[in-house]
Amino acid sequence: MPNTPTRFRYSRAAMVLLPAVAALAGAALFAQTPASRDTAQPATDIADERAPYAPDPNHLWNRLNRTLFIDSVAPGPILHQSDPLLNAPEGYLLKEQPNRIAVALLDEFLASPQTQAAHPALDRIFLQHDLWAAFDDLAWRPDNWVHLEKDAPAAFALRTRLARAIQILALSDRELTNLPDNYAQAIQSARFANAFDPAQPDRPFLPKDLFDPHGPWVVVDHALDAQLAAVHDDGCGGRAVHAVLLSLPGGRAVTEEYLADLSPGDVKNFPAGTIAALVRRMLTIDQKGNPHPTPITESIQFRVFLEVPAVPSDDFPHKQQGGRQSFFEFILDRSKLSANDGLRSLGPDEPRSLFNRTVQARGEKQMSTCIECHNSSGIYSMHSMVQQLTGSPSFHTTFRASTWEQLTQRHIYAKTKQFQWGLLQGIQESTRQTETQSR
Ligand code: HEC
Repeated sequence: MPNTPTRFRYSRAAMVLLPAVAALAGAALFAQTPASRDTAQPATDIADERAPYAPDPNHLWNRLNRTLFIDSVAPGPILHQSDPLLNAPEGYLLKEQPNRIAVALLDEFLASPQTQAAHPALDRIFLQHDLWAAFDDLAWRPDNWVHLEKDAPAAFALRTRLARAIQILALSDRELTNLPDNYAQAIQSARFANAFDPAQPDRPFLPKDLFDPHGPWVVVDHALDAQLAAVHDDGCGGRAVHAVLLSLPGGRAVTEEYLADLSPGDVKNFPAGTIAALVRRMLTIDQKGNPHPTPITESIQFRVFLEVPAVPSDDFPHKQQGGRQSFFEFILDRSKLSANDGLRSLGPDEPRSLFNRTVQARGEKQMSTCIECHNSSGIYSMHSMVQQLTGSPSFHTTFRASTWEQLTQRHIYAKTKQFQWGLLQGIQESTRQTETQSR
């Protein structure tokens, strides 16, 4: 099973939520081998993913991208660009030949830092983002539970080079300020309806005011010292901010009041017409070496509650008694970001990818899976909240409205407390020191 090591990576909050979804997620992950990627997609998709950085497939960045992220998997479409494909098969980059090639390519990259730093900001931010994911993954080796000491030299060779490359690719303050907001782009383009239409329950929509702090969408937070979207956060290694947003019919005040009144032992369901959203926004590493927020939305999921029965039901998969919902997902399209078209709606036939977007499942379709995990009635299907309301008393808590700023700060703080972050910082600091001394 490619993902076994991540078992040890989950935070305490995630561990509580995991049992509820592990069976479903696990079943899908077992199916993920390199040969399992769906191949029935147009060749153009494959070409794009193999050469995203320059028309020449042999451009250094394309070769780097292929070697680190693509070569280990069978040809096929990449659904989510929010994380690179890293783990198929597990430990691929630590095997002798791929490791040697990857190290050589990184050396080629590091030999001309100024050339690399002169690439367009959007190319740099995405390559950095993927190298950061690779670094975090390699930081776990060796791990005495699942990995062997023999992997240590190969992991070390890559880590030290990746840390330096991540530094070189960092955007300047000015470039960070000028990053495009693909959500705002999508709204401006009017490509999607801006409200849910009950008469067309499958038509994708993007609310204009999703990020408006005074609008109807309330950013939900709780009083625990943990992320609300802990499972997704763990899946992306903390390299993005996840926010859960809720909108009840009647507007912001009604939603805020509902949240404030929610408490363990006194759970009232919300009415039909409520919509929940889960938004993921990208973090980057700036030139000072700090995590930095970006306006780039990597994914959004919506669940619209069309019917909310009074009694929650757990009899999945036999019947769906949790009412009716409409499901939607939008994802970042890196290649179209500079053309103001960087967010697209997921079609019904696209392959499944789970919390850890570094792997994709075979056969199953992403949009058909939502009901597997979210099959209960209304609030009882809200995995980010239900455990704190109905689970073990040690996780009981209250909820409140928060802001994107507060949430972002919390995510950044949590990221900087990870050991992978400390390792990255340590390598980067020692590289800086060596460079200063050799001047
Ligand atoms: C394998 C289980 C699983 C599947 C499949 C799944 N989700 Fe979720 N979803 C979760 C968990 C767990 C959370 C709670 C957030 C966290 O801990 O990261 C969540 C949270 C959400 C939220 C925020 C509100 C809430 O429930 O807490 C939305 C909206 C959402 N999911 C939509 C979707 C959509 C749309 C799909 C299908 C494309 C989907 N989900 C598929 C497990 C799943």
